[in-house]
Amino acid sequence: MSDAPHIAQKAPYPVDLVEGKTYFWCACGHSKSQPFCDGSHKGSTFTPLKFTADATKTAYLCGCKHSAKAPFCDGTHKSL
Ligand code: FES
Ligand code: FES
Repeated sequence: MSDAPHIAQKAPYPVDLVEGKTYFWCACGHSKSQPFCDGSHKGSTFTPLKFTADATKTAYLCGCKHSAKAPFCDGTHKSL
C-alpha cells in the first residue's frame, strides 16, 4: 500500500453525527464502511482519525481523504 491515501470518492459523505459521540474516520480510504474505519488500514501506515462530535448535526466527512481539515471536507476533492 502506498503512502498516499486511496480516494474512496471525490465527494464528501453526509452523516448524521450525535453530540458527544466518538467516531473513527477512515484516513486510508480502503474501508468498506465509508466514511468510517472498518479496520482495513491494518498493515498500512494509516490509522483512523478519532473525533468527538461537538453537536448533533449533519456533517460532510471527507471521502477523498485529502482534506486539510479532516475528518471534514474542505473542498480539496474538487482539485483532485
Ligand atoms: Fe481506513 Fe481504518 S479502514 S483508516
Ligand atoms: Fe475530501 Fe471534500 S471529499 S475534501
